[in-house]
Amino acid sequence: MAGANPTPEALQAFLDRLSAEIHERGDWGKVADYIPELADVDPAQFGIAVLLADGSMCSAGAARVGFSVQSISKVFSLACVLGRIGEQIWQRVGREPSGSRFDSILLLELEKGIPRNPFINAGALVVTDELLTGRTPRDALSEIIHFIRLAADDDDIHIDRAVAMSEQDTGDRNRALVNYLKSYGNLKNPVDYALGTYFHQCAIEMSCIQLARAGRVIAGLPGAPAILSPTRARRINALMLTCGHYDESGDFAFRVGLPGKSGVGGGLLIVAPGRASIAIWSPGLNDTGNSRAGTFAARRLAEFTGWSVFG
Ligand code: DON
Repeated sequence: MAGANPTPEALQAFLDRLSAEIHERGDWGKVADYIPELADVDPAQFGIAVLLADGSMCSAGAARVGFSVQSISKVFSLACVLGRIGEQIWQRVGREPSGSRFDSILLLELEKGIPRNPFINAGALVVTDELLTGRTPRDALSEIIHFIRLAADDDDIHIDRAVAMSEQDTGDRNRALVNYLKSYGNLKNPVDYALGTYFHQCAIEMSCIQLARAGRVIAGLPGAPAILSPTRARRINALMLTCGHYDESGDFAFRVGLPGKSGVGGGLLIVAPGRASIAIWSPGLNDTGNSRAGTFAARRLAEFTGWSVFG
Protein backbone atom coordinates (compact mmCIF):
# COMPACT_ATOMS: atom_id res chain seq x y z
CA MET A 1 0.00 0.00 0.00
CA ALA A 2 1.45 3.34 -1.09
CA GLY A 3 1.91 6.51 0.99
CA ALA A 4 1.91 7.24 4.69
CA ASN A 5 -0.96 6.80 7.13
CA PRO A 6 -2.81 10.00 8.04
CA THR A 7 -1.98 11.28 11.52
CA PRO A 8 -4.52 10.26 14.17
CA GLU A 9 -5.51 13.95 14.47
CA ALA A 10 -6.18 14.30 10.73
CA LEU A 11 -8.09 11.02 10.66
CA GLN A 12 -10.18 12.00 13.69
CA ALA A 13 -11.15 15.32 12.09
CA PHE A 14 -12.07 13.45 8.89
CA LEU A 15 -14.25 10.90 10.76
CA ASP A 16 -16.11 13.72 12.55
CA ARG A 17 -16.82 15.40 9.19
CA LEU A 18 -17.85 12.08 7.65
CA SER A 19 -20.28 11.32 10.47
CA ALA A 20 -21.88 14.76 10.03
CA GLU A 21 -22.06 14.28 6.25
CA ILE A 22 -23.79 10.89 6.61
CA HIS A 23 -26.45 12.40 8.90
CA GLU A 24 -26.95 15.33 6.49
CA ARG A 25 -27.42 12.96 3.53
CA GLY A 26 -30.02 10.95 5.44
CA ASP A 27 -29.78 8.12 2.89
CA TRP A 28 -30.12 5.27 5.34
CA GLY A 29 -31.61 2.33 3.45
CA LYS A 30 -33.90 -0.26 5.02
CA VAL A 31 -33.20 -2.42 8.07
CA ALA A 32 -33.28 -6.22 7.69
CA ASP A 33 -36.79 -7.28 8.64
CA TYR A 34 -36.61 -11.02 8.00
CA ILE A 35 -35.13 -11.32 11.50
CA PRO A 36 -37.93 -9.60 13.52
CA GLU A 37 -35.58 -8.53 16.33
CA LEU A 38 -33.51 -6.52 13.81
CA ALA A 39 -36.58 -4.90 12.23
CA ASP A 40 -37.01 -2.60 15.27
CA VAL A 41 -33.57 -1.00 15.03
CA ASP A 42 -33.63 2.71 14.06
CA PRO A 43 -31.91 2.95 10.64
CA ALA A 44 -30.75 6.56 11.20
CA GLN A 45 -27.58 5.61 13.09
CA PHE A 46 -23.94 5.66 12.08
CA GLY A 47 -20.74 4.72 13.87
CA ILE A 48 -17.15 4.25 12.72
CA ALA A 49 -13.92 3.18 14.45
CA VAL A 50 -10.46 2.97 12.92
CA LEU A 51 -7.61 1.29 14.76
CA LEU A 52 -4.26 2.34 13.33
CA ALA A 53 -1.06 0.31 13.31
CA ASP A 54 0.45 2.58 16.00
CA GLY A 55 -2.38 1.54 18.35
CA SER A 56 -4.36 4.76 18.17
CA MET A 57 -8.12 4.42 17.88
CA CYS A 58 -10.11 7.11 16.10
CA SER A 59 -13.89 6.97 16.14
CA ALA A 60 -17.01 8.99 15.48
CA GLY A 61 -20.77 8.78 15.84
CA ALA A 62 -22.32 5.74 17.52
CA ALA A 63 -18.99 3.88 17.71
CA ARG A 64 -19.74 2.54 21.19
CA VAL A 65 -23.24 1.28 20.48
CA GLY A 66 -23.54 -2.50 20.28
CA PHE A 67 -25.04 -4.07 17.14
CA SER A 68 -25.63 -7.58 15.82
CA VAL A 69 -22.56 -8.59 13.82
CA GLN A 70 -24.45 -11.28 11.87
CA SER A 71 -22.37 -12.44 8.89
CA ILE A 72 -19.22 -10.66 10.09
CA SER A 73 -18.99 -13.56 12.57
CA LYS A 74 -18.18 -15.79 9.57
CA VAL A 75 -14.71 -14.25 9.36
CA PHE A 76 -13.99 -15.38 12.92
CA SER A 77 -15.55 -18.84 12.59
CA LEU A 78 -13.41 -19.37 9.48
CA ALA A 79 -10.31 -18.29 11.43
CA CYS A 80 -11.21 -20.82 14.15
CA VAL A 81 -11.77 -23.68 11.73
CA LEU A 82 -8.51 -22.96 9.89
CA GLY A 83 -6.77 -23.11 13.27
CA ARG A 84 -8.48 -26.42 14.00
CA ILE A 85 -8.20 -28.41 10.72
CA GLY A 86 -6.30 -26.11 8.36
CA GLU A 87 -6.55 -26.78 4.63
CA GLN A 88 -8.89 -29.73 5.02
CA ILE A 89 -11.86 -27.36 5.22
CA TRP A 90 -11.44 -26.70 1.47
CA GLN A 91 -12.65 -30.22 0.74
CA ARG A 92 -16.08 -29.13 2.00
CA VAL A 93 -16.33 -25.51 0.80
CA GLY A 94 -14.97 -23.55 -2.19
CA ARG A 95 -13.10 -20.27 -2.53
CA GLU A 96 -14.89 -18.61 -5.43
CA PRO A 97 -17.24 -15.63 -5.43
CA SER A 98 -20.86 -16.73 -5.80
CA GLY A 99 -22.33 -13.72 -7.59
CA SER A 100 -25.58 -14.47 -5.80
CA ARG A 101 -27.38 -13.41 -2.65
CA PHE A 102 -26.07 -14.50 0.74
CA ASP A 103 -28.88 -17.01 1.30
CA SER A 104 -29.14 -18.38 -2.25
CA ILE A 105 -29.61 -22.12 -2.75
CA LEU A 106 -29.17 -22.07 -6.55
CA LEU A 107 -25.50 -23.01 -6.83
CA LEU A 108 -25.74 -25.64 -4.13
CA GLU A 109 -27.65 -27.97 -6.41
CA LEU A 110 -25.47 -27.29 -9.43
CA GLU A 111 -22.30 -27.88 -7.42
CA LYS A 112 -23.57 -30.93 -5.56
CA GLY A 113 -23.63 -29.63 -2.03
CA ILE A 114 -20.23 -27.87 -2.01
CA PRO A 115 -20.91 -24.18 -1.24
CA ARG A 116 -19.01 -21.65 -3.33
CA ASN A 117 -17.27 -19.94 -0.41
CA PRO A 118 -17.29 -19.76 3.42
CA PHE A 119 -19.09 -16.39 3.55
CA ILE A 120 -22.37 -17.25 1.81
CA ASN A 121 -24.77 -18.81 4.31
CA ALA A 122 -24.37 -22.36 2.95
CA GLY A 123 -20.57 -22.11 3.27
CA ALA A 124 -20.70 -20.61 6.74
CA LEU A 125 -23.03 -23.39 7.85
CA VAL A 126 -20.42 -25.94 6.69
CA VAL A 127 -17.71 -24.09 8.63
CA THR A 128 -19.90 -24.06 11.75
CA ASP A 129 -20.69 -27.76 11.26
CA GLU A 130 -16.96 -28.49 11.14
CA LEU A 131 -16.42 -26.52 14.36
CA LEU A 132 -19.12 -28.66 15.98
CA THR A 133 -17.34 -31.89 15.21
CA GLY A 134 -16.42 -33.53 18.50
CA ARG A 135 -17.98 -30.64 20.46
CA THR A 136 -21.30 -29.56 21.84
CA PRO A 137 -22.94 -26.45 20.35
CA ARG A 138 -22.07 -24.64 23.59
CA ASP A 139 -18.37 -25.51 23.23
CA ALA A 140 -18.27 -24.60 19.55
CA LEU A 141 -19.82 -21.20 20.35
CA SER A 142 -17.38 -20.72 23.21
CA GLU A 143 -14.51 -21.30 20.82
CA ILE A 144 -15.72 -18.53 18.48
CA ILE A 145 -16.48 -16.08 21.31
CA HIS A 146 -13.16 -16.86 22.98
CA PHE A 147 -11.29 -16.15 19.72
CA ILE A 148 -13.11 -12.82 19.29
CA ARG A 149 -12.55 -11.77 22.92
CA LEU A 150 -8.86 -12.60 22.66
CA ALA A 151 -8.55 -10.76 19.35
CA ALA A 152 -10.28 -7.69 20.80
CA ASP A 153 -8.67 -8.06 24.24
CA ASP A 154 -12.17 -7.50 25.63
CA ASP A 155 -14.20 -10.01 27.64
CA ASP A 156 -17.33 -7.87 27.46
CA ILE A 157 -18.47 -9.37 24.15
CA HIS A 158 -21.65 -11.49 24.29
CA ILE A 159 -24.40 -13.16 22.33
CA ASP A 160 -27.77 -11.39 22.14
CA ARG A 161 -30.03 -14.38 22.78
CA ALA A 162 -33.19 -12.53 21.72
CA VAL A 163 -31.70 -12.02 18.25
CA ALA A 164 -30.64 -15.68 18.06
CA MET A 165 -34.16 -16.83 19.03
CA SER A 166 -35.72 -14.41 16.57
CA GLU A 167 -33.67 -15.91 13.74
CA GLN A 168 -34.34 -19.42 15.00
CA ASP A 169 -38.08 -18.68 14.61
CA THR A 170 -37.79 -17.34 11.08
CA GLY A 171 -34.68 -19.03 9.65
CA ASP A 172 -36.44 -21.24 7.11
CA ARG A 173 -33.98 -20.53 4.32
CA ASN A 174 -31.03 -21.55 6.47
CA ARG A 175 -33.01 -24.63 7.51
CA ALA A 176 -33.45 -25.45 3.82
CA LEU A 177 -29.73 -24.90 3.15
CA VAL A 178 -28.61 -27.20 5.98
CA ASN A 179 -30.98 -29.96 4.92
CA TYR A 180 -29.72 -29.61 1.37
CA LEU A 181 -26.12 -29.90 2.58
CA LYS A 182 -27.13 -32.99 4.52
CA SER A 183 -28.72 -34.59 1.45
CA TYR A 184 -25.36 -34.27 -0.33
CA GLY A 185 -23.45 -35.73 2.61
CA ASN A 186 -21.83 -32.38 3.47
CA LEU A 187 -23.14 -32.15 7.04
CA LYS A 188 -21.56 -34.13 9.89
CA ASN A 189 -23.75 -33.05 12.80
CA PRO A 190 -27.49 -32.91 13.48
CA VAL A 191 -29.30 -30.21 11.51
CA ASP A 192 -30.53 -28.47 14.67
CA TYR A 193 -27.05 -28.34 16.18
CA ALA A 194 -25.58 -26.70 13.07
CA LEU A 195 -28.47 -24.21 12.83
CA GLY A 196 -28.56 -23.37 16.53
CA THR A 197 -24.82 -22.74 16.66
CA TYR A 198 -24.92 -20.66 13.47
CA PHE A 199 -27.86 -18.49 14.67
CA HIS A 200 -26.08 -17.82 17.96
CA GLN A 201 -22.73 -16.94 16.37
CA CYS A 202 -24.56 -14.48 14.06
CA ALA A 203 -26.20 -12.93 17.15
CA ILE A 204 -22.88 -11.87 18.71
CA GLU A 205 -23.12 -8.20 19.62
CA MET A 206 -20.21 -5.79 19.33
CA SER A 207 -19.65 -2.06 19.00
CA CYS A 208 -17.50 -0.56 16.23
CA ILE A 209 -14.69 -0.02 18.76
CA GLN A 210 -14.79 -3.70 19.80
CA LEU A 211 -15.02 -4.95 16.21
CA ALA A 212 -12.13 -2.76 15.03
CA ARG A 213 -10.05 -4.18 17.85
CA ALA A 214 -11.03 -7.76 17.01
CA GLY A 215 -10.08 -7.07 13.38
CA ARG A 216 -6.44 -6.50 14.44
CA VAL A 217 -5.67 -10.18 13.91
CA ILE A 218 -7.16 -10.17 10.40
CA ALA A 219 -5.35 -6.92 9.51
CA GLY A 220 -2.06 -8.21 10.96
CA LEU A 221 -1.51 -5.08 13.06
CA PRO A 222 1.48 -4.87 15.39
CA GLY A 223 0.57 -5.93 18.92
CA ALA A 224 -2.27 -8.24 17.83
CA PRO A 225 -2.30 -11.55 19.73
CA ALA A 226 -0.69 -14.41 17.81
CA ILE A 227 -3.87 -16.44 17.27
CA LEU A 228 -3.89 -16.40 13.47
CA SER A 229 -0.85 -17.07 11.30
CA PRO A 230 0.09 -14.35 8.77
CA THR A 231 -0.50 -16.79 5.88
CA ARG A 232 -4.03 -17.56 7.11
CA ALA A 233 -4.76 -13.89 7.69
CA ARG A 234 -3.71 -13.14 4.09
CA ARG A 235 -5.99 -15.87 2.79
CA ILE A 236 -8.95 -14.67 4.84
CA ASN A 237 -8.25 -11.19 3.43
CA ALA A 238 -8.36 -12.60 -0.11
CA LEU A 239 -11.74 -14.21 0.57
CA MET A 240 -13.09 -11.01 2.14
CA LEU A 241 -12.06 -9.07 -0.96
CA THR A 242 -13.59 -11.54 -3.42
CA CYS A 243 -16.61 -12.81 -1.46
CA GLY A 244 -17.18 -10.51 1.55
CA HIS A 245 -20.14 -8.59 0.10
CA TYR A 246 -21.91 -11.38 -1.80
CA ASP A 247 -23.16 -10.12 -5.17
CA GLU A 248 -21.73 -6.66 -4.40
CA SER A 249 -18.18 -7.95 -3.80
CA GLY A 250 -16.86 -6.83 -7.19
CA ASP A 251 -18.23 -3.32 -6.77
CA PHE A 252 -16.84 -3.02 -3.23
CA ALA A 253 -13.37 -4.14 -4.44
CA PHE A 254 -13.62 -1.69 -7.34
CA ARG A 255 -14.73 1.31 -5.29
CA VAL A 256 -13.05 0.68 -1.93
CA GLY A 257 -10.13 -1.59 -2.84
CA LEU A 258 -9.91 -3.18 0.62
CA PRO A 259 -11.02 -6.58 2.01
CA GLY A 260 -14.30 -6.28 3.89
CA LYS A 261 -17.08 -8.33 5.37
CA SER A 262 -20.64 -7.16 5.83
CA GLY A 263 -23.52 -8.32 8.01
CA VAL A 264 -27.29 -7.74 7.79
CA GLY A 265 -27.10 -5.96 11.15
CA GLY A 266 -25.51 -3.15 9.09
CA GLY A 267 -21.94 -3.74 10.24
CA LEU A 268 -18.80 -3.77 8.12
CA LEU A 269 -15.34 -4.98 9.05
CA ILE A 270 -12.73 -3.64 6.65
CA VAL A 271 -8.99 -4.17 6.77
CA ALA A 272 -6.13 -2.18 5.36
CA PRO A 273 -3.52 -4.94 5.80
CA GLY A 274 -0.70 -3.91 8.12
CA ARG A 275 -2.17 -0.41 8.45
CA ALA A 276 -5.59 -0.35 10.02
CA SER A 277 -8.65 -2.29 11.15
CA ILE A 278 -11.89 -0.47 10.45
CA ALA A 279 -15.42 -1.10 11.72
CA ILE A 280 -18.44 0.77 10.41
CA TRP A 281 -22.07 0.42 11.43
CA SER A 282 -25.27 1.81 10.00
CA PRO A 283 -28.25 -0.57 10.16
CA GLY A 284 -30.08 0.48 6.98
CA LEU A 285 -29.25 -1.85 4.09
CA ASN A 286 -29.09 -1.52 0.31
CA ASP A 287 -30.68 -3.96 -2.14
CA THR A 288 -27.83 -6.47 -1.80
CA GLY A 289 -28.15 -6.64 2.00
CA ASN A 290 -25.07 -4.53 2.76
CA SER A 291 -25.10 -1.36 4.88
CA ARG A 292 -26.06 1.57 2.68
CA ALA A 293 -24.45 4.44 4.59
CA GLY A 294 -21.66 2.10 5.73
CA THR A 295 -20.64 1.29 2.15
CA PHE A 296 -20.72 5.01 1.32
CA ALA A 297 -18.52 5.76 4.34
CA ALA A 298 -16.06 3.01 3.34
CA ARG A 299 -15.65 4.63 -0.05
CA ARG A 300 -15.06 8.07 1.46
CA LEU A 301 -12.52 6.66 3.95
CA ALA A 302 -10.58 4.88 1.18
CA GLU A 303 -10.49 8.10 -0.86
CA PHE A 304 -9.30 10.13 2.15
CA THR A 305 -6.58 7.72 3.27
CA GLY A 306 -5.50 6.41 -0.16
CA TRP A 307 -5.53 2.91 1.33
CA SER A 308 -5.95 0.15 -1.25
CA VAL A 309 -4.55 -3.35 -1.57
CA PHE A 310 -3.88 -2.46 -5.21
CA GLY A 311 -1.08 -0.02 -4.39
O1 DON B 1 -28.13 -16.25 8.03
C1 DON B 1 -28.65 -15.16 8.07
O2 DON B 1 -29.58 -14.87 7.34
C2 DON B 1 -28.09 -14.11 9.02
N1 DON B 1 -27.87 -14.66 10.32
C3 DON B 1 -26.80 -13.55 8.54
C4 DON B 1 -26.90 -13.00 7.14
C5 DON B 1 -25.97 -11.89 6.88
O3 DON B 1 -25.53 -11.17 7.75
C6 DON B 1 -25.72 -11.63 5.46
N2 DON B 1 -24.90 -10.45 5.29
N3 DON B 1 -25.09 -9.45 4.71
